[in-house]
Amino acid sequence: MVVGSQAKSVQTVVIGSGPGGYVAAIRAAELGQKVTIIERDFIGGVCLNVGCIPSKALINAGHNYYSQIHSTNSIMGVHSKGATLNWDETQKWKNEQVVKTLTGGIGMLLKKHKIDILRGEARFNDNQVINVISEDESHLLEFEKCIIATGSRPIEIPGFAFKDRVVNSTGALSLPEVPKHLVVIGGGVIGSELAGAYANLGSKVTIIEGLPHILNGFDKEMYSFVVDDFKEKGVEIVTNAKAKEAIQDDDSVKVVYEVDGVEHQVEADYCLVSVGRRPNTDEIGINNTDVKLTDRGQIVVNDRQQTSVSHIYAIGDIVEGPMLAHKASYEAKIAAGNVAGEDIQNCAISIPAVAYCDPELATMGETVESAKEKNLDFMISKFPFAANGRAITMNATKGFIRMLSDKATGVIIGAQIAGPGASDLISEFALAIENGLTTEDISMTVHPHPTLGEAIMDTSELADGMPIHI
Ligand code: FAD
Ligand code: NAI
Repeated sequence: MVVGSQAKSVQTVVIGSGPGGYVAAIRAAELGQKVTIIERDFIGGVCLNVGCIPSKALINAGHNYYSQIHSTNSIMGVHSKGATLNWDETQKWKNEQVVKTLTGGIGMLLKKHKIDILRGEARFNDNQVINVISEDESHLLEFEKCIIATGSRPIEIPGFAFKDRVVNSTGALSLPEVPKHLVVIGGGVIGSELAGAYANLGSKVTIIEGLPHILNGFDKEMYSFVVDDFKEKGVEIVTNAKAKEAIQDDDSVKVVYEVDGVEHQVEADYCLVSVGRRPNTDEIGINNTDVKLTDRGQIVVNDRQQTSVSHIYAIGDIVEGPMLAHKASYEAKIAAGNVAGEDIQNCAISIPAVAYCDPELATMGETVESAKEKNLDFMISKFPFAANGRAITMNATKGFIRMLSDKATGVIIGAQIAGPGASDLISEFALAIENGLTTEDISMTVHPHPTLGEAIMDTSELADGMPIHI
């Protein structure tokens, strides 16, 4: 290995090129910084390579296959004559048309902004110097400013070492075949999204969840739609279950779990373990710096994304808050602005969250539970997709929009959507909540017809006490 003993001076260094790191690098460059980005694996991070993007590609492939096989459009007179699935082609499309297109695009954007890309693993030597180690080289970088965006990785639990038939989300996105039977340990967002994708692709799926229900981040009225959909598709959900061990051989894996002290076993061809993710802060030499961590290993930051070392910033999955790509990108813009000498505060009121299940679930701001806990004086208005023209034309009427607004002022404080297009519709609430809009602001905004978005206008009219369509 060639070791450069002389440290090279750089202005701003970003560690990690996920939706936190690459956005921070580009924004800092736009603001005049000379930026170096360090990446040990793939440009685009977890999100573009083994997270949000490839998972949504498989979810969509699953929808298309399921609707063909089950003639879900037959009510419209569209009868499909069955379908076949070529899994190698699905994987090739996901990897080459979807992931490569996006990651290639990010690579080009980094180059366009004259950002130096350094391949290798970054480790802090101290508060000022990073060692970047690749297979055959090691570089010392002395930086003025640094943004840490090293993301997170799947948690491994005892008895479930990742190998061949026991996989984490990365493995589950690239299985060599569609499993005949997939066991999913952990029915959170990853578990439920991938359980749904594989159920649509024809797998028998068993979810083993430690809590009393799946999709813990959503209330019963919302997750019940997904549970019903799972039931329809033969997905078995075992709750209050403690996963104990996975025993694998060449052809199968036996998963042992316990419910109410009684041991059970289920045999499958693959087992996905999706029990949460841990921040990548333990292998970056953080102990060589004065950067402080929380008890859970996350980096402590202030509202400028600044760590306890004033010229080192941190963003994304390694800091507190939900582990979501859009949160990482928002924090990236805050950190980059401050690095470049602006004074910008992280003042997001709430981070929207979506589960890409059938139907989609989305939430933003206060929930009924959180508003009650805070003793807020609020009102709830709820509009069903069954009364929305566009949803009826799509034959997708399951679900509702729920809006929470302040009783005295009408200011919207929260929203939940279960139903078609929830992932896109929640953005209207994001805009409304961030900008302090009232229910009347929405109900008197002209929405195009016929659209799912009109259901948001209808929900607002309900809140105003003057509904037209219900
Ligand atoms: P990451 O994307 O994890 O990027 C960190 C980068 O840093 C990686 O490329 C890593 O290689 C690099 N790195 C780490 N350590 C070093 C080092 N020492 N030196 C150099 N480089 C280093 N979020 C959503 O909002 N919507 C979704 O639909 C969604 N779906 C998901 C599906 C799956 C299956 C998974 C696993 C995650 C999903 N997420 C989703 C979460 C989302 O991927 C993360 O929140 C997001 O990627 C975090 O961005 P980040 O920039 O903080 O870190
Ligand atoms: P999660 O925290 O969402 O869910 C983990 C689930 O596993 C929980 O329900 C938990 O009760 C259960 N669990 C934990 N230990 C268990 C055990 N030993 N046995 C049985 N069940 C157990 O974590 P997940 O699904 O791994 O996702 C990680 C993060 O990735 C999410 O928190 C989210 O931030 C992000 N993500 C976001 C997506 C989106 O925005 N649509 C999609 C996928 C991931």
